[in-house]
Amino acid sequence: MTTTSARPNQAPPGEPPRPRLLRPARTAARYAVRHGLPAVYLSRAARRGDLVGRLLRDPAVREDPYPLYEQLRERGTVAPSALGPVSTSHAVAGEVLRSDAAGVGWDRSAAPPLIRWALRLGDELDATGVAEPPSMLVTDPPDHTRFRRLVSRAFTPRATLASEPMVRRTAESLLDRLAGRDDVVDLVAGYAAQLPVLVIADLLGVPTDRREDFLRWGAAAAATLDAGLPLGRYLAAERALRAMHAFLRGHFDRLRADPGEDLVSRLVTLPGDEALTERELHATVMLLLGAGFETTVNLLGNAVVLLDAHRDQWDALRADPAGWDGAVEEVLRADSPVQLTGRTITRDTELGGVALPRGTRVTLLLGAANRDPAVFADPARFDVTRRNAREHLAFSGGVHYCLGAGLARLEGVVGLRTLTERFPRLRVAGAPVRRDLRTLRGFATLPVALR
Ligand code: HEM
Repeated sequence: MTTTSARPNQAPPGEPPRPRLLRPARTAARYAVRHGLPAVYLSRAARRGDLVGRLLRDPAVREDPYPLYEQLRERGTVAPSALGPVSTSHAVAGEVLRSDAAGVGWDRSAAPPLIRWALRLGDELDATGVAEPPSMLVTDPPDHTRFRRLVSRAFTPRATLASEPMVRRTAESLLDRLAGRDDVVDLVAGYAAQLPVLVIADLLGVPTDRREDFLRWGAAAAATLDAGLPLGRYLAAERALRAMHAFLRGHFDRLRADPGEDLVSRLVTLPGDEALTERELHATVMLLLGAGFETTVNLLGNAVVLLDAHRDQWDALRADPAGWDGAVEEVLRADSPVQLTGRTITRDTELGGVALPRGTRVTLLLGAANRDPAVFADPARFDVTRRNAREHLAFSGGVHYCLGAGLARLEGVVGLRTLTERFPRLRVAGAPVRRDLRTLRGFATLPVALR
């Protein structure tokens, strides 16, 4: 890891210096409020039989959350849980995501004084993850609108279409490297993780030769999307975040001195009234980079496992590649790479017949909404020809609808089609291992035989 250009103890311009001595206290405060306390609370809830507690704590449920979603569905479209109201309903999730009575921000002023103090103490740019402000993922308008407008040009349908040759070339060159292998190959390490990171690095203009670092950092940091991490995993995630911020700081310095034509160069050189603060810049680029590869890897891995288990559908797609668009939608629906999100109710409202006072945190189980029988007939069945698969909420909805959805779809279609053309006899050849994550769902390793 190169950290020569990093200034880990130096606060960003405009912020007070951060004494290194305080770092352990900051880490302890951050861990306690974000993970330690939630872990104790959720574990107790899980022991009492709370279904959402089990969803977030029980390793068996992590392997296969779908039966638990059905138990929750029986309790109504909005069910009470240890985490507050939770919904498995496609209609309710869609309504909340689009509602102007729900936002992504947290009202810190409503927290008890000790928690507020710990949040303030633990606040440090270099340890900030993508699910913390000012990441656009957790920022409401008008700031959200400002951030999104600055980057959306790079993700328009036209821009995405223009990346197709690059995505195809990247997929082909990765598969060229695998072509000679007769042994069992980990398809995640060799392909599913590599394609998205190379594509997003190319689009953002960050050096692709750092991809192994990005993958390592991303894998550790992705855990911070889940509440209640054990201390060891949290510390690993924080180290990864610090390394990522240090890389970004050096990269921004280089681009300020010698800007190119890429998106990040534009972001670091925005004129006065549009300029992003150092924090905003870090949050925006970290999110684009992280969201760009930590999710699509799951789409590709989940797709290969599902298609391997439904070999007739694999063969039908080989015979008629026009079906790949629909197949990718069905994978996103049936085994969604992002399983859940949440919103805070910003004014008293009613949803699914349940009164939700201002300040309520609602959990939306996207993976369950995507198997809602009110929308998808026989929802547990995997069927790449399903007509309405695209109605899934795998990319969320409303103003936070995934900025990279078009790119992810392109990588899914090109990545899977190229893979199955090159290795038509590819088979899962061992037990795939799930990532130990709740919000994201995908495989850590996926052993395959290529021929
Ligand atoms: C299969 C792949 C992907 C899935 C399933 C996915 C899913 C999602 C979801 C569910 C959200 C919204 C979460 C919420 O509403 O709380 C989101 C937001 C976002 N995604 Fe994706 N994503 C994928 C790929 C990508 C890619 C390739 C990029 C490329 C940059 C990307 C960039 C973003 C960004 C920037 C946001 C924040 C948008 C906002 O807050 O306005 N995603 N994604």
